[in-house]
Amino acid sequence: MGDVVGLPTETVYGLGADALNPAACARIFEAKDRPLYDPLIVHLPDPGWLDRLAVATPLARQLAEKFWPGPLTLVLERKEIVPDLVTSGQSTVALRMSAHSVFRAVVDSFGRPVAAPSANRFGRISPTTADDVLEELDGRIPLVLDGGPCAHGIESTIVMVRGDRLQILRRGPVTAEDLSAFGPVDETPAEVSMPGAMKSHYAPRTPLVIGPGDPYARGRSGLLAWTGSGDGYACTEYLSRTRDLREAAANLYGAMRRLDAVGLEQIVAEPLPEQGLGAAIMERLRKAAAR
Ligand code: TXA
Ligand code: MG
Repeated sequence: MGDVVGLPTETVYGLGADALNPAACARIFEAKDRPLYDPLIVHLPDPGWLDRLAVATPLARQLAEKFWPGPLTLVLERKEIVPDLVTSGQSTVALRMSAHSVFRAVVDSFGRPVAAPSANRFGRISPTTADDVLEELDGRIPLVLDGGPCAHGIESTIVMVRGDRLQILRRGPVTAEDLSAFGPVDETPAEVSMPGAMKSHYAPRTPLVIGPGDPYARGRSGLLAWTGSGDGYACTEYLSRTRDLREAAANLYGAMRRLDAVGLEQIVAEPLPEQGLGAAIMERLRKAAAR
C-alpha cells in the first residue's frame, strides 16, 4: 500500500500512509504542502512496536502502558528502521497508538505502523470531521474514512522523554497533572526541539484576537465565546454552555472553521482558564492569533 488515506482518530483526523515506506510518506507531505523539515507522528498497531522503532526506556514503557491507546505521543530516540523522511532526519521519532475503533481496525489489518499528521493543509486548522478533511484536501487524496466527529477535538499531547524527565512539547488531552505521577514535568515551551512548532499554526484565514477586541468592530466580528454572550457580534459560537473544558476542546476547531467561513473582519476569542485542558486550548488560540 503506497497511497495516503484520511483516517479518524480520537483527537483529530489524520492523513495516514505506510510509515516504513518513504515514497508513501512523501505523498503526505505533498498533499498537505508540508515542509520536509516537519516530522510525522507514527501510529503503532500495538505497543510491541515501541521497541522496534525506538529506544523504549522504562519510563517510556510506563507511559505507554498507562496512556496507550490514547491521546499521548512519545518522542524517543529512534531506531534505524524508521525512514529519515518520517523524522526529518532527526535522531528522535514521535510515536502514539490511537484509540479510535476505525483507526485501530485499519492499522490492525495493515499490521504495520502508520505515519499520520493532522489531515489539514500545512498551518491550517486541524480537521475534526470527515467533511473538514475534504474541505482541506479534496482532490489531493483518494479517500477519507468517516468515523464521525473526533471525541477530543484537539491534537495529542506530545512529550519528549529525557532520562527520568518529561518535556511537554505540545499540550493536549493528557495534562501535565496526569503526567506528573511519572516524573518531573517541564512545561516551558521548547520550540527548538519541535520543528513543526512555529509560532503561527492552527490558523483561520480571518484574523483572530484573544479578547476583548475592539468594541466598535463588534458588528463585523465573530465571537468565540467561553463565558460571555454574543451581544452585538455579527455571529457567535459557544464553546461550551456549561463551561466544560472537554466540550470546549471538542468544539474548538469546528467553531473556528464556521466563524472563518462567514467572511468576518475578525474573530474575537474569549480566554479560557489556563489549567489542564484549558491550557491546551489556550495554546491553540495563541497560535491561531499569531501572524
Ligand atoms: O493527535 C495527533 O497527534 C494527530 C493525530 C492525527 O494523531 N496528529 C498530529 O500530527 O497532530 P501533526 O503532524 O499535525 O503534529 C505533530 C507535531 C508536529 O508539530 C511535529 O513537528 C512534531 O509533532 N513532531 C513529530 N516528530 C517529532 C520529533 N521527533 N521531535 C519533536 N517533534 C516532533
Ligand atoms: Mg498538524
